[in-house]
Amino acid sequence: MKDIKIESTLTVYDNFNELPSDIASLMEKAIEARKNAYAPYSNFSVGAAILLDNNQIVTGNNQENASYPSGLCAERTAIYYAGSQYPDAKIVKMALTAGSRISQTITPIPPCGACRQAIAEYEVKQKTPIEIYFMGETGKVVKSNSLANLLPLGFDRSFL
Ligand code: THU
Repeated sequence: MKDIKIESTLTVYDNFNELPSDIASLMEKAIEARKNAYAPYSNFSVGAAILLDNNQIVTGNNQENASYPSGLCAERTAIYYAGSQYPDAKIVKMALTAGSRISQTITPIPPCGACRQAIAEYEVKQKTPIEIYFMGETGKVVKSNSLANLLPLGFDRSFL
């Protein structure tokens, strides 16, 4: 028997202004997208912006439903749209912003487990890492060099 250690390294930017300019503009798209979130039940709105290797930017936000589980997170709304419109493009970077509409969210909000699994599918499919940046409404921004970094021991097609 032996223990194994799994480590992830993340980069933390102190605030939006520290971001490289290309990431700041991608994050701005996520901030814009967040404004259109349909979140009447949770009042928690999320915006996602995805940069593809064909230079297209795809955005999405969370879409809730009176039948709660029928709603969808911003990340999956955006990534499935990207997959449906640009099936041959690779996803290069994702910017995410999230927060309550009732109080200001300063904590960086990471993608939920189901969204990590969905993003992982594309990372495995395209065989290149997807950079992910996430923040609250304001405050620190966290960068992960890949989705795998956020989902150690992930389940993927190699197990099927
Ligand atoms: N939500 C997202 O859009 N992305 C996540 O990664 C976490 C949660 C949404 C789903 C729901 O509309 C609201 O945030 C509260 O959970």
